[in-house]
Order: sequence, then C-alpha cells, then structure tokens
Amino acid sequence: MPAQRPSIIAPSILACDFGRLGDEVKSVTEAGADWIHCDVMDGDFVPNISFGEPIVKAAGGHTGLPLDVHLMIQRPDRYIGQFMSVPGVASVTSHLEANHDAGVTLDTVRAAGKKAGLSIKPGTPLDQAKELFGRFDILLIMTVEPGFGGQPFMNDMLSKIREADRIRTDLGLGFLIEVDGGIDVETAALCREAGADVMVAGTSVFKAADRAAEISALRA
Ligand code: DX5
Ligand code: ZN
Repeated sequence: MPAQRPSIIAPSILACDFGRLGDEVKSVTEAGADWIHCDVMDGDFVPNISFGEPIVKAAGGHTGLPLDVHLMIQRPDRYIGQFMSVPGVASVTSHLEANHDAGVTLDTVRAAGKKAGLSIKPGTPLDQAKELFGRFDILLIMTVEPGFGGQPFMNDMLSKIREADRIRTDLGLGFLIEVDGGIDVETAALCREAGADVMVAGTSVFKAADRAAEISALRA
C-alpha cells in the first residue's frame, strides 16, 4: 500500500441522529468526509434491522459525496438494482457469507458501472474469497461482528488486513481495502499500517465533539 495515498474516511450513518439525518450527513460532509457509509441490515443476515433504500436516498439528497452501501442482508442480488439506482451510490458491497452467488453479484454491480465490494466477517478466512480476487474493487474486512455500531475493534483482524495487502501486491490487483467497526484514531493508524485504505467510522465521528478534527485525525 503506497504510504503517500491518504486514507479515505467514510463515516457510517448508522451512528447518526436519524431524527436529523439530513443535517447529520451535511455536517460530516462539511467536516471533510470522503464517502458516506450506509449500513443496510435485514434482521436475518445480521441480528438487527437498520434501514433500506429510502434512507440511503434521503441521505444522498444532503451530500455530494459518494455513497458507500454496505449490504448486511441475505439475497443481496435481489436488491442491488434498487440501491444502484439511488443517485450518488458509488459502491455496493455484499457479504461472501450471504445466500447468493457472490461472483454474480459482484459482476452485476460492476456491469452497472459501480464499484463492487465484497465483505467478509471476522470469522471468515480470507482464503474463502480467493476465487473472487479480481472480481471486486473493494474488500471490506469487518473488524467487528456485523450488526451493531459501537463495538470494540478486533485486533486479530490486523493480520487479515496484512494478508489482503500482500495478496493485492502479489496478484498486482488494485482493489481498495476497507475496514469497518471500532475504527477510531488509534485503530485507524494500526489498520493503515497494515495496508487499509478506507476507514469506516460511525461512533468515533458522530459522537466526536469536533467532527472535522476527528476526521482529520483519522486520516493522519
Ligand atoms: C456494523 C457496521 C459498521 C458500524 C461501524 O455492522 O457495518 O459500519 O456501523 O460502527 P462503529 O464505527 O461505531 O464501530
Ligand atoms: Zn458497515
């Protein structure tokens, strides 16, 4: 991972005040965020229900930043079309562990001209995704068990980030490594060092007294 490329900071709206969604999205946009991370949960793939396409669309109306949709749902193939039609959606990430043909889902997202992301849970070895290398633009490595914000960072995921960075170099691939869950200034630095490019941060940004300062510190 060339050190000179700055980290991409993607605040997760799961941690925002949904009663003021528009203001919250505007606030982190003005505070210097690069992407807006949208955590879609179906209560089946993960034991929590968050929001669907209408909220992603509403959020998109208050920012010009790329929307980074993270589908923590079963049968993502049935819903990617809906999310890709939302103005501002730049990437759609689905889970390897969900009940779909992950390769077909990735190819469909790419065919629509969007960045295709593949996410793996902490318990899933990187090896299980090896047939799919080359078919995704983003590898989203979960650094918490998906389903809830505000969980502690799982340090043992650092070796998985390093492994993904090594494979990327060995295969000469250009996918971004995105990390998600428990990312704050300290853990972002560890992930960056291990090869991560995109930092998803919910709690650390939305609960910060000074969001611009937090985003700058996450990027440092
Ligand atoms: C968890 C989500 C994460 C989460 C991050 O399933 O995928 O994006 O919202 O939240 P924090 O940054 O609070 O750990
Ligand atoms: Zn997420």
